[in-house]
Amino acid sequence: MGPVRESIVKGVVAPMRDVPKSIQRPPYVGAKRAARWTGGDIHDAETVERIRVSARIAAQALAEVGRHVRPGITTDELDRIGHEFVLDHGAYPSTLGYPGAAGRPPFPKALCTSVNEVICHGIPDSTVVQEGDIVKVDITAYKDGMHGDNCGSFIAGEGSEAATRLVEVAHEAMMRGVRAAMPGREVNVIGRVIEKYAARFGYESVRSYTGHGVGPAFHTGLVIPHYDAAPHHDDVIEPGMVFTVEPMLVDGSEANHEWDDGWTVVTNDGGWVAQFEHTILIGEDGPEVLTLP
Ligand code: MF3
Ligand code: CO
Ligand code: CO
Repeated sequence: MGPVRESIVKGVVAPMRDVPKSIQRPPYVGAKRAARWTGGDIHDAETVERIRVSARIAAQALAEVGRHVRPGITTDELDRIGHEFVLDHGAYPSTLGYPGAAGRPPFPKALCTSVNEVICHGIPDSTVVQEGDIVKVDITAYKDGMHGDNCGSFIAGEGSEAATRLVEVAHEAMMRGVRAAMPGREVNVIGRVIEKYAARFGYESVRSYTGHGVGPAFHTGLVIPHYDAAPHHDDVIEPGMVFTVEPMLVDGSEANHEWDDGWTVVTNDGGWVAQFEHTILIGEDGPEVLTLP
């Protein structure tokens, strides 16, 4: 076994990148907090067509950034690639300027880069990616009033057996969660399936961060847990709904805390994490993944 990768520490965050005036901003940019969405989670066909466009751009952006994950690149450079890709497609990177918790700064970048034991909401900075790192890239595009959200885990260079298995299992867990999202069921079936599958491999599924309704709002208020939340979270899945499934699986305990930057979430025990996220549409016969390139 080679040298063990040291813990992730805060790097230097470069100034916010510009967005041309011609790109439509989501309403929360520059606001204290994102307005609560009251329009529900079942969308008409015209709205769904617009979400499809944003979801496709997000998926293409994720593939483009993922292609560049390699030892030696900084997470800020990954941000530059994603930022420019989204703008080049006439969209706004939804995380840029997304309001934080009360008294916390807005998110300053076009995507989240969460390395190894960072669960989610990692801020791209001067951190240099190393051989074997698991880099989670979470990128969201906003266009024509709609958001499409997705995340993938990429291993830089050659991964350890443990890291490779964790990433594979996280992807399969997400897909099993997606396939469980059948109309007529309660949303809590999704997490039940994910958590059970993860447990077979000794992994824990993070409870404090969840999937969410998405589309006309980045986070609509609908919560999709990645654990068995029954009898809670009993919202019934219906055709026309759009939401994310985005499990974070830990090779260790899912207990976690946030850094004092107001965003970065890490495991308490340093266990590594893999995450995948799709935005899905519920059809009459079952789910359809919208975040495909
Ligand atoms: N894209 C993330 C999600 O899946 C949210 C990131 S919000 C941010 O819901 F502000 F941290 F970027
Ligand atoms: Co999401
Ligand atoms: Co996301």
